[in-house]
Amino acid sequence: MPPDPRAATGSWAERPAGVPATVPPPSVPLSFLFAAAVGLVGCGVAWVLARSAAANDPTADPVVAAVHLGVLATLATGILGATHQFAPVITGRPLRSVPLARATLISFVAASWMLPLGVATQQLAVTAISGALTGLALVLLAVNLSGPLAARGKGAPVLALRIALVGALVTGFLGIAFIGDRQGNWFALAGHVDLAMGVLGIFGWLGMTYLGVAEKLWPMFMLAHVPGPKRAGHLAVVGVGSGLLLATPGLAWSITVLAWIGAALMTAGLGAHLWSLTAHVAHRRRKADLHLLFVITAASWLVLGAALSLAAAVSVHKDPQVGTSLTAAAVAAFGGWLLEALVGHSYKVVPFILWSALRSRSISSGPAGKPLMFSDLFDRRAAGAAYVSVTLAMAALCIGLGAAAPTLVAVAGALLAVTGVVVAVSLMVIPLRMIRHASSTTAVTAERAGPASR
Ligand code: HEM
Repeated sequence: MPPDPRAATGSWAERPAGVPATVPPPSVPLSFLFAAAVGLVGCGVAWVLARSAAANDPTADPVVAAVHLGVLATLATGILGATHQFAPVITGRPLRSVPLARATLISFVAASWMLPLGVATQQLAVTAISGALTGLALVLLAVNLSGPLAARGKGAPVLALRIALVGALVTGFLGIAFIGDRQGNWFALAGHVDLAMGVLGIFGWLGMTYLGVAEKLWPMFMLAHVPGPKRAGHLAVVGVGSGLLLATPGLAWSITVLAWIGAALMTAGLGAHLWSLTAHVAHRRRKADLHLLFVITAASWLVLGAALSLAAAVSVHKDPQVGTSLTAAAVAAFGGWLLEALVGHSYKVVPFILWSALRSRSISSGPAGKPLMFSDLFDRRAAGAAYVSVTLAMAALCIGLGAAAPTLVAVAGALLAVTGVVVAVSLMVIPLRMIRHASSTTAVTAERAGPASR
């Protein structure tokens, strides 16, 4: 096949044989994922600092800061890394441009740290700049993804990525309106617009991306071939997408009927997602492993989040304080769904990407001289430790917010920070050691061969 001319600026020119022509350079997804791990450390520290505020008022500024270090600097940054990798791979079309992806990373990461810092320190200028940077990052993202996402006939995963892009744009621009509102109540934002933005951000952007890419990743990582048409995955995307169309305005303008119908459609969609997971688990050929544990634990957070949301909706009129605490706990549980899935998939996706990166540097054998395997590239005990710390962290955060217990919120923060460090270190150390070893071996060989070889 002749090379695709569009691949020149949007894909990895030095890729080794066997890697799809549309894949971006490894540094694109890996830099987003590294920034997400740093974001998790920041988010953990922010929860420790916000522990008392979180117990008294989950809408206080230090809490808003911790929430956004979680949803933007960690989850959205990691998910953007996955989107830059998977959109070209799933569609067979490259990004429009690699430099554009790097500009998206810089502007988005800067925005996602400046927003919480500006909110926590009440520096309006800092929040205003973060709004401008968010807008820039999302426009660059839309331009870059417009190439791959224009592909037709690619099923639920691409439909999900398209909806997620719209979700990202709407959430981002609602967030910018919020920032404007903080400057002087410009938009007189009222009702539950903040909750509508939270729901749209979690399900319409971050969750929607997971609903889509999971349909590609689960068959691969579980070695699961589910027979027949992929109805459950499609229903999940359509159910959650159509539910959001009703639930978001319903929440924003307090139209109760609309909010409940939207919530019911979303619940049906999320139920289909769990049905799809059950089918993949039932048809898997790979033995139960840590990835499966991460994925099932993530799904349990989703179920808990739905139960807590229902409890919050029922109790908010009887006791607003209890309703607010339960809403905060529900948001944390949904965060647990996505964080657990992100960390769990990182231990599959990052070694997968690094494996190609190492082969492009002619590193193709593992520690015992055998062919390099994905599992050679990280420490399994550290991955297990990351599972324990992230699961305990989200449990402590959920209970801490639901029961207004500052100590538990602080414990959750400390564990989140530990998870960020463990994940980043355990995924980087072995590959970096291999690269260092390979370059020192090359240098010694060149030295021995003398100047003629250079
Ligand atoms: C995945 C994306 C997002 C999610 C899940 C999310 C979630 C939330 C939630 C739940 C709240 C209410 C917090 C509380 O009252 O304790 C909130 C408030 C806020 N969000 Fe976001 N958000 C997202 C993205 C953004 C973005 C991109 C921006 C700005 C560029 C932004 C700016 C704000 C601001 C300024 C507030 C505070 C509003 C106030 O003054 O009360 N958010 N967000």
